Amino acid sequence: MSNIILVGAQWGDEGKGKIIDILAKKSDYIIRYQGGNNAGHTIKIGKKQFILHLIPSGILHPHTRCVIGNGVVVDPEALFKEIAFLQQEGISVRKRLCISDRAHLIFPFHPLIDTLREEDRQKRAKIGTTKRGIGPCYGDKMMRLGIRMCDVIDEAYFRERLANILLEKNRIFKNIYKSPSCSYQKLLITYRNYAKRLKPYITDTTLLLNDAIGKKKRLLFEGAQGTLLDIDHGTYPFVTSSNATAGGAMTGTGIGPTHIDHVIGVVKAYTTRVGEGPLPTAFSSTMMEKIREKGGEYGATTGRPRRCGWFDAVVVRHAALVNGLTSLAVTKLDVLDELSTIKVCVGYRIKGKIIRNFPANTRLLSNAKPVYEEHPGWMKPTGQSKHFKQLPKKARAYLKRISQLIRVPISIVSIGAERSRTIVL
Ligand code: IMP
Repeated sequence: MSNIILVGAQWGDEGKGKIIDILAKKSDYIIRYQGGNNAGHTIKIGKKQFILHLIPSGILHPHTRCVIGNGVVVDPEALFKEIAFLQQEGISVRKRLCISDRAHLIFPFHPLIDTLREEDRQKRAKIGTTKRGIGPCYGDKMMRLGIRMCDVIDEAYFRERLANILLEKNRIFKNIYKSPSCSYQKLLITYRNYAKRLKPYITDTTLLLNDAIGKKKRLLFEGAQGTLLDIDHGTYPFVTSSNATAGGAMTGTGIGPTHIDHVIGVVKAYTTRVGEGPLPTAFSSTMMEKIREKGGEYGATTGRPRRCGWFDAVVVRHAALVNGLTSLAVTKLDVLDELSTIKVCVGYRIKGKIIRNFPANTRLLSNAKPVYEEHPGWMKPTGQSKHFKQLPKKARAYLKRISQLIRVPISIVSIGAERSRTIVL
């Protein structure tokens, strides 16, 4: 038995898509458990690049079955677009993708409210969301207003639920944002049509996955975003609205924690962040530009430039704790190949005191001064290395130091976007 949860151990964009693609070879089921089409998982196969937002990245391996779990919020329009794109690429989806009957749906008023709220927020309070309606949809889920897959395919009940949610939304549009209301009739027709198209994919995935476990199938849980964007463990309020951490894989699928064997945390050899919120180890502007260009650090979903900084061991140690990481996959080591000195943050100076644990208070974190240790750069290309031993000695020392600081072994090192540029330890 080998069931694996893979999570981002920083602020997302750690290169999870590529690692999932590597692990999918030995998995039977790949499952998304949280988030929605705010995610952007990039996989490069030969010269072709795939960016998936909603469908698990494992879909690129024909032997796998892919599941969108109950913890995911699904924008049907985005889903159909992705299915069409994959089919165009010759990848079969219909018999391989299942969607939980308990997953919530995104409606057009969700991205609308997401956008209006962001515009309304004072500058310092902006979250920098992807404007895909993720937060408002999870909000409705928690307020018990949401509409799930099992509801949308039950037409009489759907009518009731839609009328119920629109009552509140249209009051908000009218009285708060002074914007036009949403038409019940229009949404009813659109989503009735969506329901027909969604129906063949909808099933009780909790049963499906527990049954698969019973048959000793190998499950791979594909986390989206990252630990520091987790609604509970991240840099609140500058977070996404779901549990991107390992616990989310349980609540977001209906699988018990006793079935999990490994939790892999994916980290970049440095740090990036897109959207608002503190990034203690941010580079100076020249270095920021250099690494952004070398690492192609632009959002896979929104195209926004990512902020970049040094590896922050305080952040990743926090991720190791809250996820119970059993190993690390370190990506984009090659981006650091040309640097003569590489820094690693080992603590923060806050109000004159050095702290080594990740603080809950985001305001304090915004004023934290990183405490760095410096490592000599290897200044040699790493991209062709096939084994850990082939990496330059100083690159190996850097990786070993990271592992020591996080107190978690490294299982995978990625040195380029292609599948072949991967070292499995
Ligand atoms: P939301 O998830 O669209 O509500 O955005 C909330 C925050 O999470 C923003 O800072 C986004 O930039 C960030 N975010 C959401 N999804 C991703 C992702 O897949 N990678 C990196 N950041 C993300």
